[in-house]
Amino acid sequence: MSTTTFISPSPTLTPATSFMEFVQDDLEAIEERLNREITSDVREVAALSGHVLNAGGKRLRPAMVALSARAVSCSPSQERLAMVGAAVELVHMATLVHDDVVDNTATRRGQKTANAVFGNGVAVLSGDFLLARAMRLLTTDGEVAIIRAVSDITIEMSEGEVLEILATGDPAISRERYFEILRKKTAVFVEGCCRCGAMVAGAGRSHADALGRYGYHLGMAFQIADDLLDYNGDPSVTGKPVGSDLRDGRATLPFLLALESAPAKERDKLLASFGNASLTDTHVSDAVQILASLDVFERTRDEARLHVEKAAGTLDALPDTPARACFASLTDYVVARDR
Ligand code: IPE
Ligand code: IPE
Ligand code: MG
Ligand code: MG
Repeated sequence: MSTTTFISPSPTLTPATSFMEFVQDDLEAIEERLNREITSDVREVAALSGHVLNAGGKRLRPAMVALSARAVSCSPSQERLAMVGAAVELVHMATLVHDDVVDNTATRRGQKTANAVFGNGVAVLSGDFLLARAMRLLTTDGEVAIIRAVSDITIEMSEGEVLEILATGDPAISRERYFEILRKKTAVFVEGCCRCGAMVAGAGRSHADALGRYGYHLGMAFQIADDLLDYNGDPSVTGKPVGSDLRDGRATLPFLLALESAPAKERDKLLASFGNASLTDTHVSDAVQILASLDVFERTRDEARLHVEKAAGTLDALPDTPARACFASLTDYVVARDR
């Protein structure tokens, strides 16, 4: 498998709107910095970090830092973008390592997860290592507001992950609770990345707020799309197993919508599958069939589209630049993505 995949533009996006190409140079600087930040004298820690870094990953969060900076400045410091971009990706890496332990996941990005290779103990502690490397790197950059922003991201994300654990096994969580988990575990992160990019570029309040709102709504849409992919994604493309949320008893939007509208017999089937650790692939595809018959996938996508529209609506407050055009194309990508 290739080492770095970044975000591949969807076939429906034209090269002219490719955000990936626009920040390619920044992403390379970020990648170089990331490789310097995962060294350790403890072989296991270095090996786990290298495994996670080189497994691929879309690098969405550092791309958001770089794009945000370039949306408000023609010449932001690339050295600073590399430090801050690498720091947010290190936090993301730590998050995924911890998340795969708590979700007991064996496959991510088409490869074995860190916990599957190194065991839960080494994974948890190496996740802490990655988190601390992120914070240490931010002190090298030195802007206290950025250190605070990344700390806030991490605080809310940890709380979101805990709220999700607490909701596990409850098939009828409220829509509010579901969206609150998404906000904390994903949207605040993407919002924070945009705000950090704005700070690197020295943006004024109105531009920083517009970028923050954009990131928030993009992050909500991104996680709703992720919850959809858990049901209708192709595991050979997503690199993650299908049906984990159902099997593990996490009631995400597709499941909540299905439960609301299913006739009694289908409803009973869905409830019997929910949180059932011994669910086979056939059971999962039966459940997916039920969801499809209730038009749940399209309705979930509609919910993601509402956020994407709000994200697009914030862009008017930004100067008309190529970076802004990239943000406009990212909104399409987030709903249409297949990985
Ligand atoms: C995975 O994030 C966790 C979620 C927020 C859904 P990404 O989908 O950005 O993960 P990688 O880094 O590209 O694998
Ligand atoms: C990943 O979340 C971690 C965070 C978003 C904080 P999920 O558990 O929902 O996503 P995957 O499916 O493992 O990537
Ligand atoms: Mg998970
Ligand atoms: Mg999880």
